[in-house]
Amino acid sequence: MTLTITTSPFADQKPGTSGLRKKVRVFQQPRYVENFVQSVFDVLGDFRGKTLVLGGDGRFLNREVIQTAIRMAAANGFGRVLVGLGGILSTPAASNIIRKYGAFGGLILSASHNPGGPDEDFGIKYNIANGGPAPEKITQAIYLRSKVIDRYLTVDVPDVDLDNLGEFQVAGMTVTVIDPVVDYAELMEQLFDFGAIRTLIAGGFRLSFDAMHAVTGPYAHELLERRLGAPPGTVVNGTPLPDFGGHHPDPNMVHAHELFERMFGTEAPDFGAASDGDGDRNLILGRNIFVTPSDSLAALAANIHLAPGYAGGLKGIARSMPTSRAADRVAHALGLALHETPTGWKFFGNLLDAGMATICGEESAGTGSDHVREKDGLWAVLLWLNILAVRRESVAAIMAGHWACFGRNYYARHDYEGLESTAAEKLVRELRENVPALPGCTIGALTIIEADEFEYHDPVDKSLSQRQGVRLEFEGGARVVFRLSGTGTSGATLRVYLERYEGPDGNLNADTAEALADLVAAANDLAGITRHTGRKAPDVIT
Ligand code: G6P
Ligand code: ZN
Repeated sequence: MTLTITTSPFADQKPGTSGLRKKVRVFQQPRYVENFVQSVFDVLGDFRGKTLVLGGDGRFLNREVIQTAIRMAAANGFGRVLVGLGGILSTPAASNIIRKYGAFGGLILSASHNPGGPDEDFGIKYNIANGGPAPEKITQAIYLRSKVIDRYLTVDVPDVDLDNLGEFQVAGMTVTVIDPVVDYAELMEQLFDFGAIRTLIAGGFRLSFDAMHAVTGPYAHELLERRLGAPPGTVVNGTPLPDFGGHHPDPNMVHAHELFERMFGTEAPDFGAASDGDGDRNLILGRNIFVTPSDSLAALAANIHLAPGYAGGLKGIARSMPTSRAADRVAHALGLALHETPTGWKFFGNLLDAGMATICGEESAGTGSDHVREKDGLWAVLLWLNILAVRRESVAAIMAGHWACFGRNYYARHDYEGLESTAAEKLVRELRENVPALPGCTIGALTIIEADEFEYHDPVDKSLSQRQGVRLEFEGGARVVFRLSGTGTSGATLRVYLERYEGPDGNLNADTAEALADLVAAANDLAGITRHTGRKAPDVIT
């Protein structure tokens, strides 16, 4: 029996860069989850009898929201729900399941790399039939719907047993509890040369993967240890925990510092990697070397033909605007189109669907391809391993060779977190107003040659996304980009992206901080970061 429950809107259900992300306490308000899920269902069109995929990264509140969503899916007329065992699916695995089983769409419960637990973050994201995050026209429709919603539909049935594989009937809808790992592992075996990687590892190549107590633990145990033969202990922090062990499941220098210490220590393995809360990000390290996500995208694009799934080459390369332009040089050399999109994986979906790009990447530790419609942490790890298995060179040697061929884009992102929103918005507003006056200005030895605010005209659906970050281009190929994060849950985060190009004949072995020091100072001057925020230094450098 379908129950129609009266509700009233919440004013704050606007999806951000990647779905609706809030503190757990916000989601725990009565009717909050129901309002949002119903707002999603209300704008989707006809899904009667169709399949919905459901899973999350296992963070605090995951199970409760899964049960709520199952009841609501039944009441709203879905024919089937595919849910991961224990309510768990990594984001790329969910994308794969949506595509493989021809689902109508999916709800992914995650706040990605944000911490979890009763006082931390939760999130809900809707993905469409191609397996990718809903485009802006849908997220906007969801938001508009959430502002006027007056009822939601549910059924009064007990919780589904999420801890056993199998099928259940829930008010006329079938719920299938599926293994979250098998389909994903099968896809990876199709794309990569597991035999070559197994041989590499059997020959003594050592690797370390930090799952950060997040969703990739079971995937990494299966793929790296069981299928590729890496010794037990290769995967560390491999048990997913609702609070990620009290850590911040963000694979970067700050939050994955143990992995950094291991990779820069005396007994460093050959390869180190980590992923985030929901398994879509990746961090890549070699012995004594950190590969920036921007460089990783470029190196992967240049070598991807070495993996069987990509032996036919690439259709194009796409990167988010603030990502360094290292990949542009590879695209140019290969005669491929390079697409520059706003921050947010959802902007790659159309390009991938239209066959305009094969590999995509973002500075925020996201890399992926047309195998799914999300970025994919373990995919990037396996692609690196496949390349290492074929080339038989160290990560450092591969990067040195890459820079010697294409030049090096020294790159860093400086984050100023927890800013007062009004101050951060004022900073960006002033910067925006200054844009027309900036070309020709000189700061120290740096001269601005171009300044604009990035906007994106989607070449496929022709939609326009404005105000995607202020870009300053300097003489000689340096660039600074400013934008506010769209994934935070409290206050504002200012991101400053810094990049300086050094040609193949230049100094390719400088210290990144030194290489960027004058740009950092110029960025502070130009945007008045200290003046607006009182901050003298960033909270996080990635
Ligand atoms: C999520 C999105 C990415 C995005 C990143 C940073 O991981 O999936 O596409 O690059 O957040 O977004 P932000 O708006 O915080 O810079
Ligand atoms: Zn993530």
